[in-house]
Amino acid sequence: MSDRDVRIYEVGPRDGLQNESTPIETDEKLRFIELLAAAGLREIEATSFVSPKAIPQLADADELMARLERRPGVRYPVLVPNERGLERAEAAGADAVCVFTAASEPFTKANINMTIAESIDAFRPVIARARERGWWSRGYVSTAFGCPYQGEVGEAAVVGVAKELLSLGVDELSIGDTIGVAGPSDVRRVVSALLGAGIAPSQLSMHFHDTRGTALANVVAALELGIRTFDASTGGTGGCPYAPGAAGNLATEDLVYLLDREGLGHGVDLDALLVAARHISDTLSRPLGTKVGQAGGWQVP
Ligand code: COA
Ligand code: ZN
Repeated sequence: MSDRDVRIYEVGPRDGLQNESTPIETDEKLRFIELLAAAGLREIEATSFVSPKAIPQLADADELMARLERRPGVRYPVLVPNERGLERAEAAGADAVCVFTAASEPFTKANINMTIAESIDAFRPVIARARERGWWSRGYVSTAFGCPYQGEVGEAAVVGVAKELLSLGVDELSIGDTIGVAGPSDVRRVVSALLGAGIAPSQLSMHFHDTRGTALANVVAALELGIRTFDASTGGTGGCPYAPGAAGNLATEDLVYLLDREGLGHGVDLDALLVAARHISDTLSRPLGTKVGQAGGWQVP
């Protein structure tokens, strides 16, 4: 990958849908994933093998993964909180897994009912088994810029948990602004601390929520620091039930437009992506609210 190429890691089917209260048919989720792949996305986080009581919307994870028609060259990672999740994921044919913890204790407790240290211990055998199988893996650091329960989160806490996850052997980290409170200065502060701790830009993805309209500004700040991977959700859906007010991931279509204007490669066809965005907004019976979803790309006259 050249320095002019960006990886877009699509989280719409997972982060985007997990907090939707109306049950969505597995067929509609599979169609969404297929449209995302058809638009050129090469990493599509498909679902979560978590407790169905914690995330009822993704209770169909086993069926969804078993029925998923995989396109060659596309990775379909899934979230697993524990060994039970890994076993379910394996039985359903997954080969890429994400573990998830956070940089603040109260959020970690609310989200996965563990302390941060307990979560690292729980993930150790999960990542070890994933590696034995030759699977790809990722570790999420949620609430890296602010916690709905604690408030401000210091960069030292982010660096600490990031290093612990890397020591388990995950291939990359996703650094999350779970409640969408960061601005570019926060991004510079946290990313500089991570890079200063010896973590390479290629080991990091940034995960922004656009709750307060700062996500694209944060992407630009991260690009300037050498980050080349971003999580985004087509249609701009997304939120976490344990993060009150965490509306709206950065929309993939808004990210794609920005990257196009910056002359950065990403491999995604915007018009095809908007078909996927409209599919999910139709499925949710909701107008497509993203900027580029409404305006479209720029059809130069
Ligand atoms: N898949 C399915 N069910 C699972 C499971 C898994 N991976 N892990 C645990 N469970 C079940 C248990 O069997 C138990 O079921 P029961 O109540 O019918 O007996 C229930 O979930 C609780 O399990 P327990 O081991 O007591 O864990 P817990 O209550 O401390 O919950 C988690 C821990 C991690 C399982 C739960 O908090 C969770 O799934 N969190 C995910 C949250 C999430 O996805 N957030 C959004 C992503 S950031
Ligand atoms: Zn998120």
